[in-house]
Amino acid sequence: MAPCGRLVGPLAALILFLLGTPGTHGRRSDVRVITDENWTEMLEGEWMIEFYAPWCPACQNLQPEWESFAEWGEDLEVNVAKVDVTEQTGLSGRFIITALPTIYQ
Ligand SMILES: *[C@@H]1O[C@H](CO)[C@@H](O)[C@H](O)[C@H]1NC(C)=O
Repeated sequence: MAPCGRLVGPLAALILFLLGTPGTHGRRSDVRVITDENWTEMLEGEWMIEFYAPWCPACQNLQPEWESFAEWGEDLEVNVAKVDVTEQTGLSGRFIITALPTIYQ
């Protein structure tokens, strides 16, 4: 099983730093969901993608931050997305996932 959470500490800190004021406007989630079928959307534009697994506690802790980050990313024209590695097995094979959560930029 992949080691879980190695990256999340510094990363969460970075995201919190980037966020400044976390804006929760009670809107729908801005985090896009990438699947095996539509991952080619990622070939256009800027993307920040979180690979996560439901069983990974560090991934769950990251979720609220990721949602806030997605709102913030909208202003920068960065698409913020997440991939469930347990469902999108083709995708996680395409990228090399060695730890969860993994962030690709
Ligand atoms: C990809 O497909 C899923 C499932 O149909 C959908 O929920 C998601 O919004 C799609 N993502 C993009 C970037 O089009």
